[in-house]
Amino acid sequence: MTTSAPARVRIASALLVAALGLAAGCQQKMATQPAPRPYEESTLFADNQSARPLERGVIHRNQPVDDDPLVAWLTADGKNPKPVPGWKEAVDPNGQSGPSPGAPTDVKNFVNEFPFQITETDLKRGQVMYNAVCAECHGGAGYGNGKIVERGYLKPPSYHTDPAGKAKDDAHLNGKQDHALPVGYSRGFDRWGKQVAIKDVPVGYIFQVITWGFGGMPSHAVQLANPADRWRVIAYIRALQLSQDAPAADLSPEAKKELDKAGERSHDHGDAHRRARPRR
Ligand code: HEC
Repeated sequence: MTTSAPARVRIASALLVAALGLAAGCQQKMATQPAPRPYEESTLFADNQSARPLERGVIHRNQPVDDDPLVAWLTADGKNPKPVPGWKEAVDPNGQSGPSPGAPTDVKNFVNEFPFQITETDLKRGQVMYNAVCAECHGGAGYGNGKIVERGYLKPPSYHTDPAGKAKDDAHLNGKQDHALPVGYSRGFDRWGKQVAIKDVPVGYIFQVITWGFGGMPSHAVQLANPADRWRVIAYIRALQLSQDAPAADLSPEAKKELDKAGERSHDHGDAHRRARPRR
């Protein structure tokens, strides 16, 4: 038996329609299969939850445990900070709150050692991450003058103190016009009545600021998901601080010569001889 050409086309299109129908049927079944989300209501288990409760002590596969030195930035004092005399009256006269873990009431609250030996490779990685994640606000050299700040974001404190100790941190008025910190001082410690220069805050404090954020600065734990990178950034901040405030006596003879030449050029003899502070 032979079929005419138009009839063949008709059979082919009938088959195609049937195949499409079947395919649609399959897709329908896949779309409605039971695929509950974790802890969604479900009749599968007696407690009407789709997932089983986590076993005690379960951790996320990438989660560092609390006593892992890589994420242990608080000392015993820092986990249970003592109230600071006078603070409650000044800041929270009617409230019940005391300092919570991590409150910068004292430099002793934070570890002041890196949890691993910092190598030159670590410093270079710290530099890359600092430039990618912090410099847009804190500025390439850490003066708090990043591009985002130029466009109106709250100015962070400088990482460097004014050599003459006179300049004031004008973004930090704490609601009181007469209360401006000297440039380069920690606003976090100041809240608890302590004046600590950022170059003297313990490294663990900077780790906390990166991890939790502070005031107008959001947490950067996501940007620096590997805690080791946070320590590397901190090491780079220490290098930046040293770069702006190294005693001239610590320089190599060649660097000292360069500095003296630069000092003569800028006619800034006193400052150049006393401090290896490159001009900005
Ligand atoms: C989006 C802008 C922004 C970025 C990005 C940013 N910061 Fe900050 N940072 C701030 C601001 C603003 C403050 C001051 C907050 C305040 O006074 O409320 C601050 C404050 C700080 C302080 C001082 C806290 C104190 O006690 O005074 C440190 C240390 C710090 N940042 C470290 C970092 C590091 C390290 C990074 C990168 C991992 C970083 N910041 C990224 C905006 C930023």
